[in-house]
Amino acid sequence: MSAIDDAPRIALLSPESFAHGQPHDQFDWLRAHDPVHWHDELDGDGFWAVTRYRDVKAIGRDAATFSSIPSIMIPSGEGGIEVGDHKMMITTDPPHHTGLRKLVASDFIPRAAKAMRPRIEALATRIIDDVIDKGECDLVEDIAGLMPSYVIADMLGIPHEDGVALYRLTETIHASPESVGVGAAMGAVLEMFNYARGVWEQKRAEPSDDLATVIATATVDGKELDAIDFNLFFLLLIDAGGDTTRNLVAAGMDAVFERPDQRAWLVDDLDTRMAPAVEELLRWVSPVVYMRRTATTDTEVAGVSIAEGQKVVMYYGAANRDPDAFGPTAGQLDLSRSPNEHVAFGGGGPHFCLGAHIARIEIHAILRELLTRLVDVRPAGPTEWLPSTFISGPKHLPIAYG
Ligand code: HEM
Repeated sequence: MSAIDDAPRIALLSPESFAHGQPHDQFDWLRAHDPVHWHDELDGDGFWAVTRYRDVKAIGRDAATFSSIPSIMIPSGEGGIEVGDHKMMITTDPPHHTGLRKLVASDFIPRAAKAMRPRIEALATRIIDDVIDKGECDLVEDIAGLMPSYVIADMLGIPHEDGVALYRLTETIHASPESVGVGAAMGAVLEMFNYARGVWEQKRAEPSDDLATVIATATVDGKELDAIDFNLFFLLLIDAGGDTTRNLVAAGMDAVFERPDQRAWLVDDLDTRMAPAVEELLRWVSPVVYMRRTATTDTEVAGVSIAEGQKVVMYYGAANRDPDAFGPTAGQLDLSRSPNEHVAFGGGGPHFCLGAHIARIEIHAILRELLTRLVDVRPAGPTEWLPSTFISGPKHLPIAYG
């Protein structure tokens, strides 16, 4: 049988393909046979699906040829929310992007993230305190989802409960329209904007020592940011760190449950083994399925011609299992893997994940609590996956312990 006869059905826009995690059968085939693959779109012009590590990295680093405008999601009208001249940082290009990123970057650098560690560890302890006597809970809702919501709420200077409510909205924003109903995502965005407007007014009236005040009172490129700029920044910060971190923790535990040998290796020496284990779980899970770019000029990727204006989509989960980058064990979970230059946070271009250092500390803290304090933690029912073609992870993962 030829490789073509052997091909799985390539359907990267179908939530079905993501119903049990990322479609690695499709990714493996594409990487080997059609690494820059033309994919049709029912309601759009189609896009190039890029699955090899080296191509994903090269595209992410070349913002001049591969623009983040108008959107980083495949459907042009979604995700790249534009309000007149205003743009969300993630859908801008340098030099405008550089000014926006500079505004908030100091809160995310390694030194700032390290200073947050004691607070993040205390939050992890509190989250586990709240479930430890129950004997069972949903790892996604009751543990993994709370951590990033609390952390970003602390950074922005809003109550923890509001952080949790806002993170629930992001789930609707990322779900496929088929699963939540047409218009649900836009409704969730508007609800978030309403809330953000209140924060903008409050922080301008009573400035305090938090990230929301920095953005509410900032000037970029000589122009004061207004309420709409603030809303877009607010949405991005809530959106980017919430279900990504949650999904890494939940899908990471799901993977560890399936491999008792790997789990035993990790818990045998958590202090030294957690750091490589977190990197390997990031590679393995790749919570962000893809980022889209748009060609600014006629160009080519791996010998395939790309026309100006065409969409080019980087599939991080596919790149993260590329044998050319990770060797013959690319398709195996190896918590001791080193080096591990995965692209779960992006390939190193100007949009490289701003929250990467904070995310690592959150993941580290909550996994440690989970594996040390919930005695004999184990699955207590089937894992249900999110119906999203953009963000991958479990929607529910029932666990039992003690
Ligand atoms: C496991 C957790 C996370 C993963 C896998 C993840 C992944 C990503 C990826 C793939 C990108 C795009 C990179 C690119 O285009 O080159 C990104 C951008 C971003 N991330 Fe994360 N992220 C995570 C956690 C966080 C957290 C906790 C925060 C904030 C507290 C955050 C804030 C952002 C922001 C603001 C951007 C846009 C940066 C820009 O446009 O310059 N992320 N992230």
